[in-house]
Amino acid sequence: MTCATYPNRVDLLFKVFAEGVHVDAEPELPECFKNFIQKHKLVFLGQGRHRVAYRTKSGNYVVKFPWQIKGNFDNMREAHISRKSKGEYCHYARCRCFDIDEHACLIMEYVTFPERYDNLPAWTDYIDCRQVGYNKKNELVAYDWA
Ligand SMILES: Nc1ncnc2c1ncn2[C@@H]1O[C@H](COP(=O)(O)OP(=O)(O)O)[C@@H](O)[C@H]1O
Ligand SMILES: [Mg+2]
Repeated sequence: MTCATYPNRVDLLFKVFAEGVHVDAEPELPECFKNFIQKHKLVFLGQGRHRVAYRTKSGNYVVKFPWQIKGNFDNMREAHISRKSKGEYCHYARCRCFDIDEHACLIMEYVTFPERYDNLPAWTDYIDCRQVGYNKKNELVAYDWA
């Protein structure tokens, strides 16, 4: 997939790895995602290593679109693990996988990020870059564990 902000995908990958997992610029996405975003009036949140996240109009949910092939696997894995896990070790944001033109997308509860990261429970050490936040019930959950 090409990307308007970073026409060369190597530039984009370099930026993601050199400067962290989060990119603020909205990437160029395939038409099927653009139509979905427009139809549901989604608002751009951020771009990670494999996926780009948008917030729903209600503010309660996030939709994650794969911007590269691995994003599909991440979305499927997260949905699978969250369904199987009873939260004994880690706590996962509620989420569900769905298809848009055979791309695996994910809808997940929206979380707000912690103000401090030095007083979080030990299980968050096992989540890559401590990508955790508080859901509507004020429960601390992971939002990226694929
Ligand atoms: N549930 C969520 N609530 C709020 N923001 C989120 C949520 N999930 C993802 N984000 C935002 O979108 C960005 C990209 O999503 P992420 O799941 O980390 O993608 P990737 O797996 O590609 O790194 C995150 O860095 C974060 O800023
Ligand atoms: Mg991430």
